Amino acid sequence: MAMNHDQNREWWQEAIEKVKEKMEWVSEKSKEKIPYTTVNGTHDNRADKSFDADMGIYWWTNGFWGGMMWMMYQETGEERYARIARFSEEKMDWCLQDFYGLHHDLGFMYLPTAVLDYKLTGNPDSRRRALHAANLLAGRFNPVGKFIRAWNEQNQPGKDVRGWAIIDCMFNIPLLYWASEETKDLRFKHVAMLHADTVMEHFVREDGSVRHIVELDPETGEMIRDFGGQGYEKGSSWTRGQTWGMYGFLMSYLHTGKQEYLDTSKRIAHYFMANIPEDGLIPIDFRQPKEPCWYDDTAAAIAACGFLELAKVVPEYEQDMYRRAALKLLKALYENHCDFTKDNDCILMKCSGAYHDSRHEYPIIYGDFFFMEALFKLKGSGIFMW
Ligand code: GLY
Repeated sequence: MAMNHDQNREWWQEAIEKVKEKMEWVSEKSKEKIPYTTVNGTHDNRADKSFDADMGIYWWTNGFWGGMMWMMYQETGEERYARIARFSEEKMDWCLQDFYGLHHDLGFMYLPTAVLDYKLTGNPDSRRRALHAANLLAGRFNPVGKFIRAWNEQNQPGKDVRGWAIIDCMFNIPLLYWASEETKDLRFKHVAMLHADTVMEHFVREDGSVRHIVELDPETGEMIRDFGGQGYEKGSSWTRGQTWGMYGFLMSYLHTGKQEYLDTSKRIAHYFMANIPEDGLIPIDFRQPKEPCWYDDTAAAIAACGFLELAKVVPEYEQDMYRRAALKLLKALYENHCDFTKDNDCILMKCSGAYHDSRHEYPIIYGDFFFMEALFKLKGSGIFMW
């Protein structure tokens, strides 16, 4: 089928211009911050040490602001964006030095910062940082259970989480693929693939949806149970988790060429597409109650990135289906949930961390990150960072 996207060009080109305009002033305002969300419209700051690992420099989302700055650097060539991006990367040295609060999220933290810096500028310090991070991530691998352990005890008091693996990690293992490609040491890739194979076996359901948390026996690797995690309940489908699975398996395919990873990514993608509501706005969980209808814009933005990448690797007759799905999600975000004014330092207004959190529908930095990533992909100017 011939592709005709010209009728859509206007709104997403306009969206890119608005994002760039916003980044121009927000980057200056927040140049010495690592934001996660906004407080009264102003970026908060997680750049300092905090014993509450969720509140300071050890927080898992601290790579995204730097990554947004690298995207802007790539888009504009302006050095000041590189300087702001390096603020995050250098502050995060505390994470490696203190070895505190580090979980499996090393990919989210170091791929959009140190790895991107190294790819774009060849900075040798960035390469060292990224390889340290990759070694720490590989060190979380349980060779008997064949999975990467997700969390440490300190965030789950009283719970034995040695056997917990989570779908999100599919988006951290690209750090291991990068390390293998960079050092030619296949062990990183082997760890990543063994983990991905375990996820394929235990997380992906018959209908193409994925579980969030699976507990495996750390002595044998046998599946013990699963949990609803950040979704509505056990058996439901947390939308951001679906996207980590869909986009994550695609990344595993791109780095390894293993066909089953592509097939799995497509199965999850088709489940996701079949559940996109008429208005294109994505809930926190596809199986949450109708009311309250809480949204999660992060899931929409990440899914759009995944669909756009899938469109690049499938046969021509399938490409339009994925691209149309991405455009539907992005257009719905652009028309309904974006704030490009100076009232708020973030762009997407209705992101949600988890269904059972006390707070829903607020700006979250990785919503903006993946929205930008998707728009630059549409334009064809984005850098391959995962
Ligand atoms: N990786 C945690 C999340 O997606 O919320």
